[in-house]
Amino acid sequence: MSVVAVIGAQWGDEGKGKIVDLLAEKADAVIRFSGGDNAGHTVINPGGEFKLHIVPSGIFYPRTACIIGNGVVINPRVLLEEIDSLKANGIDTGNLHISDRAHLIMPWHILFDRLDEEKRGTSAIGTTGKGIGPAFSDKTARKGIRTCDIIDAGMFRSRLASLLESKNEMLTRLYNAAALDFNTVFNEYSSYAERLAPYIKDTTAMISDLLERGGNIVLEGAQGTMLDTDFGSYPFVTSSSPLAAGACMGSGINPRRIDRVVGIFKAYTTRVGGGPMPTELKDKVGEYIRQRAHEYGTTTGRARRCGWFDAVVGRYSTNLNGFTSGILTRLDVLDEMDAVKICIGYKIGGKTVEHFPADAAALDSCTPVYEELPGWKTCTSGARKAGDLPRNARRYIRRLEELIGCRFHVISIGPRRDQSIVIKNII
Ligand code: GDP
Ligand code: IMO
Ligand code: MG
Repeated sequence: MSVVAVIGAQWGDEGKGKIVDLLAEKADAVIRFSGGDNAGHTVINPGGEFKLHIVPSGIFYPRTACIIGNGVVINPRVLLEEIDSLKANGIDTGNLHISDRAHLIMPWHILFDRLDEEKRGTSAIGTTGKGIGPAFSDKTARKGIRTCDIIDAGMFRSRLASLLESKNEMLTRLYNAAALDFNTVFNEYSSYAERLAPYIKDTTAMISDLLERGGNIVLEGAQGTMLDTDFGSYPFVTSSSPLAAGACMGSGINPRRIDRVVGIFKAYTTRVGGGPMPTELKDKVGEYIRQRAHEYGTTTGRARRCGWFDAVVGRYSTNLNGFTSGILTRLDVLDEMDAVKICIGYKIGGKTVEHFPADAAALDSCTPVYEELPGWKTCTSGARKAGDLPRNARRYIRRLEELIGCRFHVISIGPRRDQSIVIKNII
């Protein structure tokens, strides 16, 4: 039995979907524990190419239970569309389960997310506009609606009535926007409740049973460590915790049960949205990476900002999450480079620092300190064991391991399941 948390080690989009799909084969359950449909996880397997936003990436194995944990905020319309689209592709969703404690994204959350971004103007966060921040704010402020709250029509009616009045006051008086109609929201969400009811259950009890029986569990992270509300590049972060610690809170699995924490690292850095990114390349090299790797957001289609691997971020991420394994993805993207660079520190006000500062202004003005290694100028996507990789690629990997303080147990050299070099089995 093992419980494995799969964590984004950078700013998201590291390839978590591919890796969870890979690990799910041996898993009894895959649990999404944070975020919402701001996530976009790509899985390419013999069934085709899939972009998942809420449904866990283990869904392609019918015997693997896929659980949407209590830590996820759910837009029921998006979830139902995802279920329908999977079914249309012949994927069985009979083993999907939704925590009765998960909060719902309501129409006002999406409106407030977009209106807040407009108000922020040039300092906008660049959110995905899915209502994530307002939904998590309401959860913490005890003004949320959970999946269990919409099953009983009477209970839902009174909960909605007590919340909608103040939301409409804010919309009309503070934002000068139109009010939401009670009956429209009630009817829409009641129809979602009817369709989702068979999936909604006490997943904490289900997970306890699985643990007792000694099953393998994969905890599927969303976003990445640098988008964590506490430790990321605040305020340019998301509103839930993508860290290994967040996996406990968002699933109900206690910390002593987690055996392995796997950090997913891209061989370079990307970020989508606003905020500091010290190694961003605003030149031809950045554009080359974007085009070669098709670095456009899975959820919003926005161009991802691209840059060199940031080992300051990598080390910070290893320390925050306690990675027992690293997985390096998209190494093949760098195959044609003459040389590759790794950021080993930041120059801030004449001093070189090797830790990630809290101050966004310091990060904005910092100059990365780079170490340069020779490229390998060889296609790696056909490699299936470490020995197949060119010497300079192995040298790059070894140096990254030294700098981040964690060994890579899988090297990914293409988006497909089989394009993976397994150095040590994770499960
Ligand atoms: P996630 O949010 O962490 O699941 O990552 P995304 O799915 O948003 O973005 C990762 C992208 O990289 C997807 O298009 C994957 O198909 C692709 N991908 C994953 N691993 C590799 C790899 O090793 N090489 C290449 N070329 N693409 C990869
Ligand atoms: P996956 O799981 C990359 C970013 C947004 C924005 C910030 C806040 O696919 O790795 P939000 O809508 O969460 O309030 O936006 O966080 N962001 C992501 N970036 N991958 C993601 O998820 C992301 N989810 C949110 O672009 O900068
Ligand atoms: Mg993504």
